[in-house]
Amino acid sequence: MEQSLDKKITAATDGVVIDHSAEKKGEKSVYIESYGCQMNFSDSEVVASILAKEGYQTTSQMDTADLILVNTCSIREKAELTVRKRLEKFNAVKKTNPNMKVGVLGCMAERLKHKFLEEEKIVDMVVGPDAYKDLPNLLAEINEGRDAVNVILSKEETYGDIAPIRIDSNGVSAFVSITRGCDNMCTFCVVPFTRGRERSRDPKSILQEIDDLAQRGFKEITLLGQNVDSYLWYGGGLKKDFVKASPLQQKTAVDFSKLLSMSAEACPRIRFRFSTSNPQDMTVDVLHTMAKYPNICKYIHLPVQSGSDRILKKMNRLHTREEYFELIDNIRKIIPGCAISQDMIAGFPTETEEDHQDTLSLMDYVKYDFGFMFAYSERPGTLAEKKMEDDVPQEVKKRRLAEIIDKQQAHSRYRTEGFLGKTVCVLIEKESKRSKEHWSGRTTQNTVVVFPKDKYKVGEFVDVKIEDCTSATLLGTPLGISSNI
Ligand code: SAH
Ligand code: F3S
Repeated sequence: MEQSLDKKITAATDGVVIDHSAEKKGEKSVYIESYGCQMNFSDSEVVASILAKEGYQTTSQMDTADLILVNTCSIREKAELTVRKRLEKFNAVKKTNPNMKVGVLGCMAERLKHKFLEEEKIVDMVVGPDAYKDLPNLLAEINEGRDAVNVILSKEETYGDIAPIRIDSNGVSAFVSITRGCDNMCTFCVVPFTRGRERSRDPKSILQEIDDLAQRGFKEITLLGQNVDSYLWYGGGLKKDFVKASPLQQKTAVDFSKLLSMSAEACPRIRFRFSTSNPQDMTVDVLHTMAKYPNICKYIHLPVQSGSDRILKKMNRLHTREEYFELIDNIRKIIPGCAISQDMIAGFPTETEEDHQDTLSLMDYVKYDFGFMFAYSERPGTLAEKKMEDDVPQEVKKRRLAEIIDKQQAHSRYRTEGFLGKTVCVLIEKESKRSKEHWSGRTTQNTVVVFPKDKYKVGEFVDVKIEDCTSATLLGTPLGISSNI
Protein backbone atom coordinates (compact mmCIF):
# COMPACT_ATOMS: atom_id res chain seq x y z
CA MET A 1 0.00 0.00 0.00
CA GLU A 2 3.09 2.18 -0.11
CA GLN A 3 1.98 3.74 -3.38
CA SER A 4 -0.43 6.10 -1.66
CA LEU A 5 2.50 7.81 0.02
CA ASP A 6 5.10 7.44 -2.70
CA LYS A 7 2.79 8.09 -5.60
CA LYS A 8 3.30 10.76 -8.18
CA ILE A 9 1.01 13.16 -9.94
CA THR A 10 1.57 15.45 -12.82
CA ALA A 11 0.37 18.99 -12.85
CA ALA A 12 -2.42 19.31 -15.37
CA THR A 13 -5.05 21.95 -15.79
CA ASP A 14 -7.69 19.84 -17.54
CA GLY A 15 -11.12 20.23 -16.02
CA VAL A 16 -9.89 22.36 -13.12
CA VAL A 17 -11.60 25.47 -11.86
CA ILE A 18 -8.74 27.92 -11.56
CA ASP A 19 -8.83 31.50 -10.40
CA HIS A 20 -6.58 33.20 -12.94
CA SER A 21 -7.36 36.71 -11.77
CA ALA A 22 -3.94 37.25 -10.20
CA GLU A 23 -1.91 35.91 -13.10
CA LYS A 24 0.13 37.81 -15.60
CA LYS A 25 -1.26 36.01 -18.61
CA GLY A 26 0.61 32.66 -18.94
CA GLU A 27 3.81 33.81 -20.64
CA LYS A 28 5.78 30.86 -19.33
CA SER A 29 5.02 27.29 -18.37
CA VAL A 30 5.87 25.22 -15.32
CA TYR A 31 5.65 21.44 -15.07
CA ILE A 32 5.31 20.23 -11.46
CA GLU A 33 5.69 16.68 -10.17
CA SER A 34 4.88 15.92 -6.54
CA TYR A 35 5.95 12.96 -4.42
CA GLY A 36 5.26 11.87 -0.85
CA CYS A 37 2.63 12.99 1.63
CA GLN A 38 -0.57 14.91 0.94
CA MET A 39 1.08 17.99 2.40
CA ASN A 40 3.55 17.99 -0.49
CA PHE A 41 0.71 17.86 -3.01
CA SER A 42 -0.96 20.72 -1.17
CA ASP A 43 2.32 22.69 -1.12
CA SER A 44 2.65 22.28 -4.89
CA GLU A 45 -0.68 24.10 -5.18
CA VAL A 46 0.73 26.98 -3.13
CA VAL A 47 3.78 27.00 -5.41
CA ALA A 48 1.55 27.04 -8.52
CA SER A 49 -0.23 30.08 -7.09
CA ILE A 50 3.00 31.96 -6.32
CA LEU A 51 4.32 31.19 -9.81
CA ALA A 52 1.07 32.22 -11.50
CA LYS A 53 1.70 35.74 -10.24
CA GLU A 54 5.09 35.56 -12.00
CA GLY A 55 3.43 34.64 -15.30
CA TYR A 56 3.91 30.86 -15.12
CA GLN A 57 1.04 28.61 -16.12
CA THR A 58 1.02 24.93 -15.07
CA THR A 59 1.41 22.47 -17.92
CA SER A 60 1.31 18.69 -18.33
CA GLN A 61 3.91 18.91 -21.15
CA MET A 62 7.28 18.30 -19.57
CA ASP A 63 9.32 18.47 -22.79
CA THR A 64 8.41 22.04 -23.66
CA ALA A 65 8.14 23.55 -20.15
CA ASP A 66 10.26 26.58 -19.22
CA LEU A 67 10.56 25.30 -15.69
CA ILE A 68 10.41 21.80 -14.18
CA LEU A 69 9.82 21.55 -10.45
CA VAL A 70 9.88 18.35 -8.45
CA ASN A 71 8.40 18.45 -4.97
CA THR A 72 10.33 15.78 -3.12
CA CYS A 73 9.99 13.38 -0.21
CA SER A 74 12.69 12.09 2.17
CA ILE A 75 10.57 9.86 4.36
CA ARG A 76 12.16 6.59 3.20
CA GLU A 77 15.22 5.87 1.11
CA LYS A 78 13.02 4.49 -1.65
CA ALA A 79 11.19 7.82 -1.99
CA GLU A 80 14.50 9.61 -2.49
CA LEU A 81 15.69 7.04 -5.05
CA THR A 82 12.51 7.54 -7.09
CA VAL A 83 13.10 11.29 -7.21
CA ARG A 84 16.75 10.82 -8.17
CA LYS A 85 15.68 8.76 -11.19
CA ARG A 86 13.27 11.51 -12.21
CA LEU A 87 16.04 14.12 -11.93
CA GLU A 88 18.12 12.06 -14.38
CA LYS A 89 15.17 12.07 -16.76
CA PHE A 90 14.71 15.85 -16.40
CA ASN A 91 18.37 16.40 -17.16
CA ALA A 92 18.05 14.34 -20.32
CA VAL A 93 15.04 16.46 -21.38
CA LYS A 94 16.97 19.62 -20.55
CA LYS A 95 19.62 18.70 -23.12
CA THR A 96 16.97 19.00 -25.83
CA ASN A 97 15.65 22.28 -24.40
CA PRO A 98 18.67 24.28 -23.15
CA ASN A 99 16.63 27.21 -21.79
CA MET A 100 14.71 24.94 -19.46
CA LYS A 101 15.44 25.23 -15.72
CA VAL A 102 15.04 22.48 -13.12
CA GLY A 103 14.26 23.08 -9.47
CA VAL A 104 13.97 20.80 -6.44
CA LEU A 105 11.36 21.65 -3.79
CA GLY A 106 10.39 20.07 -0.47
CA CYS A 107 12.06 17.72 1.97
CA MET A 108 14.99 16.52 -0.18
CA ALA A 109 15.87 20.16 -0.89
CA GLU A 110 16.34 20.61 2.81
CA ARG A 111 18.51 17.51 3.11
CA LEU A 112 20.56 17.47 -0.08
CA LYS A 113 21.04 21.06 -1.20
CA HIS A 114 24.85 20.90 -1.41
CA LYS A 115 24.85 17.59 -3.19
CA PHE A 116 22.37 18.71 -5.85
CA LEU A 117 23.85 22.14 -6.53
CA GLU A 118 27.56 21.82 -5.90
CA GLU A 119 28.63 18.18 -6.15
CA GLU A 120 26.34 16.81 -8.81
CA LYS A 121 25.21 20.06 -10.48
CA ILE A 122 21.98 18.42 -11.59
CA VAL A 123 19.58 21.22 -10.71
CA ASP A 124 19.45 25.02 -11.05
CA MET A 125 17.42 25.78 -7.96
CA VAL A 126 16.79 24.25 -4.52
CA VAL A 127 13.89 25.51 -2.40
CA GLY A 128 12.90 24.22 1.05
CA PRO A 129 9.27 23.87 2.24
CA ASP A 130 9.21 27.22 4.08
CA ALA A 131 10.84 29.30 1.32
CA TYR A 132 8.28 29.20 -1.51
CA LYS A 133 7.49 32.90 -1.19
CA ASP A 134 11.11 33.55 -2.18
CA LEU A 135 10.53 31.80 -5.54
CA PRO A 136 10.23 35.08 -7.53
CA ASN A 137 13.71 36.15 -6.35
CA LEU A 138 15.17 32.70 -6.85
CA LEU A 139 13.75 32.55 -10.38
CA ALA A 140 15.32 35.92 -11.17
CA GLU A 141 18.66 34.51 -10.01
CA ILE A 142 18.52 31.41 -12.19
CA ASN A 143 17.26 33.35 -15.18
CA GLU A 144 20.44 35.41 -14.88
CA GLY A 145 22.45 32.20 -14.96
CA ARG A 146 23.20 31.79 -11.28
CA ASP A 147 22.26 28.83 -9.08
CA ALA A 148 19.65 29.70 -6.45
CA VAL A 149 19.00 28.20 -3.05
CA ASN A 150 16.81 28.94 -0.04
CA VAL A 151 16.19 26.20 2.49
CA ILE A 152 15.69 28.38 5.56
CA LEU A 153 13.06 26.93 7.88
CA SER A 154 10.62 29.39 9.40
CA LYS A 155 8.88 29.58 12.75
CA GLU A 156 5.94 31.53 11.31
CA GLU A 157 5.34 30.66 7.67
CA THR A 158 1.95 28.97 7.08
CA TYR A 159 1.17 30.34 3.57
CA GLY A 160 -2.17 31.41 5.06
CA ASP A 161 -2.28 34.39 2.70
CA ILE A 162 -1.78 32.37 -0.50
CA ALA A 163 -4.83 31.08 -2.38
CA PRO A 164 -3.62 27.73 -3.77
CA ILE A 165 -4.24 26.91 -7.43
CA ARG A 166 -5.78 23.44 -7.49
CA ILE A 167 -3.62 21.13 -9.58
CA ASP A 168 -4.90 17.91 -11.14
CA SER A 169 -8.20 18.48 -9.37
CA ASN A 170 -11.49 16.66 -9.94
CA GLY A 171 -13.26 19.81 -8.75
CA VAL A 172 -14.77 17.77 -5.89
CA SER A 173 -12.05 17.13 -3.28
CA ALA A 174 -9.40 19.55 -2.03
CA PHE A 175 -6.74 19.76 0.67
CA VAL A 176 -6.41 22.68 3.07
CA SER A 177 -3.27 22.90 5.22
CA ILE A 178 -3.87 23.82 8.86
CA THR A 179 -0.48 23.20 10.44
CA ARG A 180 3.11 22.94 9.21
CA GLY A 181 6.08 21.13 10.66
CA CYS A 182 6.11 18.68 13.55
CA ASP A 183 7.45 18.81 17.11
CA ASN A 184 7.01 15.16 17.94
CA MET A 185 10.49 13.90 17.17
CA CYS A 186 9.63 10.25 16.56
CA THR A 187 13.13 8.78 16.44
CA PHE A 188 12.75 7.21 12.95
CA CYS A 189 11.32 10.30 11.22
CA VAL A 190 13.02 13.02 9.13
CA VAL A 191 9.98 15.33 9.03
CA PRO A 192 10.92 17.48 12.05
CA PHE A 193 14.29 18.12 10.36
CA THR A 194 13.01 18.74 6.85
CA ARG A 195 9.85 20.68 7.74
CA GLY A 196 10.82 22.39 10.99
CA ARG A 197 8.86 23.40 14.07
CA GLU A 198 5.14 22.99 14.35
CA ARG A 199 3.03 26.09 13.57
CA SER A 200 -0.72 26.51 13.25
CA ARG A 201 -2.44 28.60 10.63
CA ASP A 202 -4.89 31.41 11.47
CA PRO A 203 -8.41 29.92 11.54
CA LYS A 204 -9.72 33.00 9.68
CA SER A 205 -7.63 32.20 6.63
CA ILE A 206 -8.55 28.50 6.88
CA LEU A 207 -12.27 29.32 6.94
CA GLN A 208 -11.82 31.75 4.07
CA GLU A 209 -10.18 29.07 1.95
CA ILE A 210 -12.91 26.58 2.85
CA ASP A 211 -15.62 29.09 1.95
CA ASP A 212 -13.94 29.84 -1.37
CA LEU A 213 -13.78 26.10 -2.18
CA ALA A 214 -17.46 25.67 -1.26
CA GLN A 215 -18.44 28.55 -3.54
CA ARG A 216 -16.47 26.97 -6.38
CA GLY A 217 -18.46 23.75 -6.02
CA PHE A 218 -16.02 21.56 -4.06
CA LYS A 219 -17.75 18.94 -1.90
CA GLU A 220 -15.01 17.45 0.27
CA ILE A 221 -12.16 19.12 2.13
CA THR A 222 -9.32 17.38 3.94
CA LEU A 223 -7.66 19.43 6.67
CA LEU A 224 -3.96 18.63 6.57
CA GLY A 225 -1.10 18.63 9.02
CA GLN A 226 1.61 16.24 10.21
CA ASN A 227 -0.26 16.12 13.52
CA VAL A 228 -3.65 17.84 13.17
CA ASP A 229 -4.82 17.15 16.72
CA SER A 230 -2.02 19.37 17.94
CA TYR A 231 -3.52 22.39 16.09
CA LEU A 232 -3.60 25.44 18.33
CA TRP A 233 -4.12 29.08 17.34
CA TYR A 234 -3.76 31.79 19.93
CA GLY A 235 -2.81 34.72 17.71
CA GLY A 236 0.38 33.35 16.20
CA GLY A 237 3.48 31.76 17.62
CA LEU A 238 4.74 28.25 18.16
CA LYS A 239 2.74 25.67 20.05
CA LYS A 240 5.49 25.33 22.63
CA ASP A 241 5.16 29.06 23.50
CA PHE A 242 1.44 28.83 24.30
CA VAL A 243 2.25 28.84 28.04
CA LYS A 244 3.71 32.32 27.61
CA ALA A 245 0.60 33.71 25.84
CA SER A 246 -1.59 36.35 27.56
CA PRO A 247 -4.65 35.20 29.58
CA LEU A 248 -6.95 36.59 26.85
CA GLN A 249 -5.03 34.74 24.14
CA GLN A 250 -5.22 31.53 26.14
CA LYS A 251 -8.96 31.99 26.71
CA THR A 252 -9.81 32.64 23.08
CA ALA A 253 -7.45 30.03 21.63
CA VAL A 254 -8.80 27.72 18.92
CA ASP A 255 -7.86 24.06 19.24
CA PHE A 256 -8.48 21.30 16.69
CA SER A 257 -11.86 20.32 18.05
CA LYS A 258 -13.03 23.94 17.81
CA LEU A 259 -11.58 24.36 14.32
CA LEU A 260 -13.44 21.22 13.21
CA SER A 261 -16.78 22.44 14.57
CA MET A 262 -16.25 25.92 13.10
CA SER A 263 -15.57 24.36 9.69
CA ALA A 264 -18.47 21.90 9.89
CA GLU A 265 -20.89 24.67 10.84
CA ALA A 266 -19.62 27.14 8.24
CA CYS A 267 -20.26 24.66 5.40
CA PRO A 268 -22.85 22.01 6.33
CA ARG A 269 -22.93 20.55 2.79
CA ILE A 270 -19.17 20.03 2.63
CA ARG A 271 -17.68 16.77 3.84
CA PHE A 272 -14.69 17.33 6.12
CA ARG A 273 -11.82 14.91 6.56
CA PHE A 274 -8.52 15.39 8.36
CA SER A 275 -5.11 13.80 8.38
CA THR A 276 -2.96 12.85 10.26
CA SER A 277 -3.93 12.12 13.85
CA ASN A 278 -1.35 11.22 16.41
CA PRO A 279 -2.67 8.94 19.19
CA GLN A 280 -0.95 10.91 21.93
CA ASP A 281 -2.62 14.17 20.87
CA MET A 282 -6.11 13.03 19.85
CA THR A 283 -8.66 14.16 22.43
CA VAL A 284 -12.08 12.86 23.40
CA ASP A 285 -13.37 16.37 22.51
CA VAL A 286 -12.44 15.73 18.88
CA LEU A 287 -14.32 12.41 18.95
CA HIS A 288 -17.46 14.12 20.32
CA THR A 289 -17.18 16.82 17.65
CA MET A 290 -16.92 14.13 14.97
CA ALA A 291 -19.99 12.40 16.36
CA LYS A 292 -21.97 15.65 16.53
CA TYR A 293 -21.61 16.78 12.91
CA PRO A 294 -22.83 14.53 10.08
CA ASN A 295 -20.53 16.35 7.65
CA ILE A 296 -17.35 15.36 9.53
CA CYS A 297 -16.38 12.03 8.00
CA LYS A 298 -16.38 8.98 10.22
CA TYR A 299 -12.82 8.02 9.51
CA ILE A 300 -9.60 8.43 11.50
CA HIS A 301 -6.11 7.77 10.20
CA LEU A 302 -4.36 6.83 13.42
CA PRO A 303 -0.78 5.65 12.81
CA VAL A 304 0.52 3.38 15.56
CA GLN A 305 3.84 2.14 14.05
CA SER A 306 4.18 -0.81 16.46
CA GLY A 307 2.16 -2.83 18.96
CA SER A 308 5.07 -3.30 21.35
CA ASP A 309 5.48 -0.94 24.30
CA ARG A 310 9.24 -1.42 24.23
CA ILE A 311 9.46 -0.40 20.55
CA LEU A 312 6.95 2.46 20.96
CA LYS A 313 9.24 3.87 23.65
CA LYS A 314 12.33 3.53 21.47
CA MET A 315 10.41 5.28 18.70
CA ASN A 316 9.57 8.13 21.11
CA ARG A 317 5.87 7.60 20.44
CA LEU A 318 4.43 9.10 23.59
CA HIS A 319 1.69 6.54 24.26
CA THR A 320 1.53 2.92 25.34
CA ARG A 321 -0.29 -0.01 23.78
CA GLU A 322 -2.90 0.19 26.58
CA GLU A 323 -3.47 3.91 26.02
CA TYR A 324 -3.89 3.24 22.30
CA PHE A 325 -6.51 0.57 23.05
CA GLU A 326 -8.30 3.04 25.32
CA LEU A 327 -8.45 5.53 22.46
CA ILE A 328 -9.74 2.84 20.08
CA ASP A 329 -12.43 1.85 22.62
CA ASN A 330 -13.46 5.50 22.95
CA ILE A 331 -13.71 5.85 19.16
CA ARG A 332 -15.90 2.73 18.94
CA LYS A 333 -18.10 3.98 21.77
CA ILE A 334 -18.45 7.63 20.74
CA ILE A 335 -18.52 7.17 16.93
CA PRO A 336 -20.05 3.78 16.14
CA GLY A 337 -19.11 2.61 12.64
CA CYS A 338 -16.06 4.87 12.44
CA ALA A 339 -13.34 3.53 10.16
CA ILE A 340 -9.76 3.52 11.44
CA SER A 341 -6.54 3.12 9.48
CA GLN A 342 -2.92 2.65 10.50
CA ASP A 343 0.69 3.29 9.54
CA MET A 344 2.99 0.50 10.64
CA ILE A 345 6.76 0.07 10.56
CA ALA A 346 8.26 -3.44 10.44
CA GLY A 347 11.79 -4.09 11.65
CA PHE A 348 12.60 -1.03 13.76
CA PRO A 349 16.03 -1.44 15.46
CA THR A 350 16.08 -4.24 18.08
CA GLU A 351 12.58 -5.47 17.13
CA THR A 352 12.21 -9.11 18.23
CA GLU A 353 9.74 -11.79 17.15
CA GLU A 354 7.85 -11.07 20.35
CA ASP A 355 7.59 -7.35 19.52
CA HIS A 356 6.38 -8.30 16.05
CA GLN A 357 3.75 -10.61 17.55
CA ASP A 358 2.60 -7.67 19.70
CA THR A 359 2.06 -5.69 16.48
CA LEU A 360 0.01 -8.53 14.97
CA SER A 361 -2.10 -8.91 18.12
CA LEU A 362 -2.71 -5.15 18.27
CA MET A 363 -3.98 -5.36 14.69
CA ASP A 364 -6.30 -8.22 15.70
CA TYR A 365 -7.75 -6.03 18.43
CA VAL A 366 -8.39 -3.02 16.20
CA LYS A 367 -9.17 -4.74 12.86
CA TYR A 368 -8.20 -1.67 10.86
CA ASP A 369 -10.15 -0.79 7.72
CA PHE A 370 -6.98 0.17 5.81
CA GLY A 371 -3.27 0.42 6.38
CA PHE A 372 -0.02 1.86 5.08
CA MET A 373 2.80 -0.46 5.97
CA PHE A 374 6.54 0.01 5.60
CA ALA A 375 9.84 -1.70 6.28
CA TYR A 376 12.02 0.45 8.55
CA SER A 377 14.33 2.65 6.51
CA GLU A 378 17.16 4.36 8.35
CA ARG A 379 17.14 8.11 7.70
CA PRO A 380 20.27 10.24 8.06
CA GLY A 381 20.15 12.76 10.90
CA THR A 382 17.37 11.08 12.88
CA LEU A 383 17.90 9.97 16.46
CA ALA A 384 17.46 6.33 15.47
CA GLU A 385 20.25 6.67 12.92
CA LYS A 386 22.56 8.32 15.44
CA LYS A 387 21.86 6.10 18.42
CA MET A 388 20.57 2.74 17.17
CA GLU A 389 21.94 0.08 14.91
CA ASP A 390 19.69 -0.89 11.98
CA ASP A 391 20.06 -4.48 13.15
CA VAL A 392 16.99 -6.32 11.84
CA PRO A 393 18.14 -8.20 8.71
CA GLN A 394 16.47 -7.14 5.47
CA GLU A 395 14.85 -10.55 4.89
CA VAL A 396 13.40 -10.53 8.42
CA LYS A 397 11.99 -7.03 7.87
CA LYS A 398 10.47 -8.18 4.59
CA ARG A 399 8.92 -11.30 6.11
CA ARG A 400 7.43 -9.35 9.04
CA LEU A 401 6.13 -6.69 6.68
CA ALA A 402 4.49 -9.39 4.53
CA GLU A 403 2.80 -10.86 7.61
CA ILE A 404 1.51 -7.41 8.61
CA ILE A 405 0.21 -6.77 5.07
CA ASP A 406 -1.48 -10.21 4.94
CA LYS A 407 -3.22 -9.55 8.22
CA GLN A 408 -4.32 -6.11 7.05
CA GLN A 409 -5.77 -7.60 3.87
CA ALA A 410 -7.84 -10.05 5.91
CA HIS A 411 -9.07 -7.27 8.18
CA SER A 412 -9.85 -4.97 5.24
CA ARG A 413 -11.94 -7.76 3.73
CA TYR A 414 -13.69 -8.30 7.08
CA ARG A 415 -14.54 -4.58 7.12
CA THR A 416 -15.76 -4.38 3.51
CA GLU A 417 -17.87 -7.54 3.99
CA GLY A 418 -19.55 -5.72 6.87
CA PHE A 419 -21.10 -3.36 4.30
CA LEU A 420 -22.77 -6.12 2.25
CA GLY A 421 -26.52 -5.58 2.00
CA LYS A 422 -26.28 -2.07 3.48
CA THR A 423 -27.05 1.24 1.78
CA VAL A 424 -24.26 3.81 1.95
CA CYS A 425 -23.96 7.45 0.91
CA VAL A 426 -21.25 7.93 -1.72
CA LEU A 427 -19.69 11.15 -2.98
CA ILE A 428 -18.92 10.59 -6.68
CA GLU A 429 -15.34 11.59 -7.45
CA LYS A 430 -14.39 10.19 -10.86
CA GLU A 431 -14.82 7.51 -13.46
CA SER A 432 -13.80 4.06 -12.29
CA LYS A 433 -10.31 3.13 -13.51
CA ARG A 434 -11.58 -0.23 -14.68
CA SER A 435 -14.77 0.75 -16.49
CA LYS A 436 -16.07 3.77 -18.39
CA GLU A 437 -19.62 2.78 -17.41
CA HIS A 438 -18.96 3.07 -13.66
CA TRP A 439 -18.38 5.86 -11.15
CA SER A 440 -15.94 5.69 -8.27
CA GLY A 441 -16.48 7.53 -4.99
CA ARG A 442 -16.10 7.08 -1.25
CA THR A 443 -18.27 6.59 1.80
CA THR A 444 -17.89 8.69 4.93
CA GLN A 445 -15.62 5.86 6.17
CA ASN A 446 -13.31 6.51 3.20
CA THR A 447 -14.14 3.15 1.60
CA VAL A 448 -14.12 3.18 -2.20
CA VAL A 449 -17.44 2.35 -3.88
CA VAL A 450 -17.86 1.56 -7.58
CA PHE A 451 -21.31 1.54 -9.20
CA PRO A 452 -23.03 2.03 -12.60
CA LYS A 453 -23.07 5.68 -13.75
CA ASP A 454 -26.79 5.70 -14.53
CA LYS A 455 -27.99 9.36 -14.58
CA TYR A 456 -25.63 10.57 -11.84
CA LYS A 457 -22.83 13.14 -12.04
CA VAL A 458 -19.43 13.76 -10.45
CA GLY A 459 -19.83 15.72 -7.20
CA GLU A 460 -23.26 14.27 -6.32
CA PHE A 461 -24.04 12.39 -3.10
CA VAL A 462 -25.77 9.14 -4.04
CA ASP A 463 -27.27 6.30 -1.95
CA VAL A 464 -25.78 3.01 -3.12
CA LYS A 465 -26.92 -0.48 -2.10
CA ILE A 466 -23.82 -2.66 -1.56
CA GLU A 467 -24.01 -6.08 -3.21
CA ASP A 468 -20.43 -7.26 -3.55
CA CYS A 469 -16.93 -6.38 -2.40
CA THR A 470 -13.20 -7.01 -2.59
CA SER A 471 -10.89 -6.24 0.33
CA ALA A 472 -10.52 -2.66 -0.95
CA THR A 473 -13.70 -1.83 -2.87
CA LEU A 474 -17.47 -2.00 -2.45
CA LEU A 475 -19.66 -2.67 -5.49
CA GLY A 476 -23.32 -1.77 -5.65
CA THR A 477 -26.37 -0.26 -7.32
CA PRO A 478 -27.36 3.42 -7.05
CA LEU A 479 -30.79 4.04 -5.50
CA GLY A 480 -31.08 7.82 -5.82
CA ILE A 481 -29.64 11.17 -4.75
CA SER A 482 -28.82 10.99 -1.05
CA SER A 483 -30.13 13.31 1.62
CA ASN A 484 -27.12 12.27 3.71
CA ILE A 485 -23.52 13.37 3.26
N1 SAH B 1 2.54 12.54 10.89
C1 SAH B 1 2.87 12.27 9.54
C2 SAH B 1 3.73 11.12 9.35
C3 SAH B 1 4.49 11.29 8.13
S1 SAH B 1 5.40 9.95 7.75
C4 SAH B 1 1.65 12.22 8.65
O1 SAH B 1 1.06 13.23 8.43
O2 SAH B 1 1.29 11.18 8.13
C5 SAH B 1 4.17 8.77 7.24
C6 SAH B 1 4.50 7.40 7.71
O3 SAH B 1 5.74 6.97 7.15
C7 SAH B 1 4.74 7.28 9.22
O4 SAH B 1 3.55 7.22 9.94
C8 SAH B 1 5.54 6.02 9.32
O5 SAH B 1 4.73 4.87 9.38
C9 SAH B 1 6.31 6.00 7.98
N2 SAH B 1 7.72 6.32 8.19
C10 SAH B 1 8.24 7.47 8.64
N3 SAH B 1 9.58 7.38 8.74
C11 SAH B 1 9.90 6.12 8.37
C12 SAH B 1 11.13 5.40 8.28
N4 SAH B 1 12.27 5.95 8.64
N5 SAH B 1 11.07 4.12 7.86
C13 SAH B 1 9.91 3.54 7.51
N6 SAH B 1 8.73 4.17 7.57
C14 SAH B 1 8.72 5.44 8.00
FE1 F3S C 1 7.14 12.18 11.87
FE2 F3S C 1 6.23 11.45 14.22
FE3 F3S C 1 5.86 13.93 13.36
S1 F3S C 1 6.09 10.26 12.35
S2 F3S C 1 5.79 13.74 11.17
S3 F3S C 1 7.81 13.00 13.86
S4 F3S C 1 4.37 12.64 14.44
